[in-house]
Amino acid sequence: MNEAAGKVAPFYAVELNRIANERQRRGLPVIHMEVGQPSAGAPAAAIEAGHRALRDCPQGYWESGALAERLAHLYRERYGLPVDPSQILLTMGASAALVLTIAVLFARGARVAVPRPGYPAHRNVLHALGLVPLELDCGSETRFQPTAAMIRALDPAPAGLILTSPSNPTGTMLPEAELRAITAACRERDIRIISDETYHGIIYGPRAHSMLEYGPDAVVVNTFSKYWCMTGWRLGWAVVPAPLVDVMRRFAGNLFLVPPTLSQHVALAAMDHAAELDGHVATYATNRRLLMAALPALGITHIAPADGAFYLYADVGHLTHDSLQWCRDLLDATGVALNTGKDFDSVHGGRFIRISFAVSTDETAQAIESLGRWLEARKRA
Ligand SMILES: Cc1ncc(COP(=O)(O)O)c(C=O)c1O
Repeated sequence: MNEAAGKVAPFYAVELNRIANERQRRGLPVIHMEVGQPSAGAPAAAIEAGHRALRDCPQGYWESGALAERLAHLYRERYGLPVDPSQILLTMGASAALVLTIAVLFARGARVAVPRPGYPAHRNVLHALGLVPLELDCGSETRFQPTAAMIRALDPAPAGLILTSPSNPTGTMLPEAELRAITAACRERDIRIISDETYHGIIYGPRAHSMLEYGPDAVVVNTFSKYWCMTGWRLGWAVVPAPLVDVMRRFAGNLFLVPPTLSQHVALAAMDHAAELDGHVATYATNRRLLMAALPALGITHIAPADGAFYLYADVGHLTHDSLQWCRDLLDATGVALNTGKDFDSVHGGRFIRISFAVSTDETAQAIESLGRWLEARKRA
């Protein structure tokens, strides 16, 4: 067996999701706040476009030039950035964009810095491809994000750095000044940046900045999974610096051929339905407000100040040091499924939970009530 495969940690969200689904099959109620996916689907008109494409197009190997152009235009609209359509590489979700980028940029054995807590696949893909993840311990004092000072302190300098802003699991964003400072530190030390911008579009305050605004050499990955509510359609993209386009395309073609044809038709249509999608973001904003107001009253007071995404990362260290078992017990008693911080932080994660609030506002209110009753009963027991 490949020794690196053994280093890939289990995904606890999947285990909790399996228990939640089993419970549902037995006819018991469940509120799914354990997995990072919108409960809404793609815009209705985009699904209609999918039906038409199924009828009219052969669904062969195909890459949509129109979609690449539309995405290039998105960078002009959102960030005022000139991106050429040839720089847009369509992939099977951000996941495939990450695998491709990491495989192309770094030699085996290279060290790549990742924040902890952070999205587990970053660390695990590095392991799987024979690279060495260098975890940066990011606490509440830096809003769970890395800083330029942390990057400068790394000796020797790593080959790369993966940033996620807004982050999964915390939803916190890197402030603009820090993005600039990190870019400068990386440029000085020849550290290549991969910017995972999966949650752009789901923002509750000032707009998110793309890393491309500061470091045109960065590779940006993004996806239709979150803002566009298309998780199962498996479509994402990378914005690739011009000198890397050829090699990235060669890798993409050999590893994955093309992303799903039908999904490309649906995604192009979905891009014309911002009003419907922004409506979902407004629901997340309401859910976030409800939770931020209710959790402190339930004694959960240390919560990362989420600027975007649809997660709250909360310290429950005063209640448990085994948040996986705590989540299992909560699910068993109430049907409210949350995730353990252990997926995102193998050191401190046992003290943390992640709440995904991409559900309806009714479900959010019910979850708060059930959690409150359960905590009260545990206190009495
Ligand atoms: C930060 C981050 N990057 C990438 C992904 C993978 O997304 P996709 O469904 O596009 O593969 C996720 C999914 O949760 C994520 O949170």
